[in-house]
Amino acid sequence: MSNQYDEIITKYRFEEGNIISLLQDTQNKFGFIPQDAIFYFARTLEIPVSQIYGVATFYSQFYLKPRGKNRITVCRGTACHVKGSERILMKIKKEIGLDTHEDTTAGLEFSVDEVACVGACSIAPVVIINNKMYGKSSPDRLIKEIKAIMK
Ligand code: FES
Repeated sequence: MSNQYDEIITKYRFEEGNIISLLQDTQNKFGFIPQDAIFYFARTLEIPVSQIYGVATFYSQFYLKPRGKNRITVCRGTACHVKGSERILMKIKKEIGLDTHEDTTAGLEFSVDEVACVGACSIAPVVIINNKMYGKSSPDRLIKEIKAIMK
């Protein structure tokens, strides 16, 4: 029986140990790695489920649940922390309707990630909204950008 993951799996069937590529292709296609994909890969490739989960959870690039259409990344490294990144993070989350512990809005409009230093400490605090970097930004300016996306 054909499955939606067959195209991806066919590429890697004969390449042993290429779980990372398998997961990257799955995430590129679906935006995250569905649980049933992991079970399907494990069964089809005869790899333990725990081994695939191990890789998927080890690398922060992989998401095991759906992500928002718009991505906001708040740097939480030391320099950004000193410059108020926590306050910025909380303001952004409040603006888009997320609780402190949540990272993706219910309608999948936004996902918010916290990362360690992104290597731009001289312009701290740093926030990245849909691949555009904002440095030395006030919470108000960032909220304005986010509101523009919401429209
Ligand atoms: S700590 Fe944020 S860019 Fe370095």
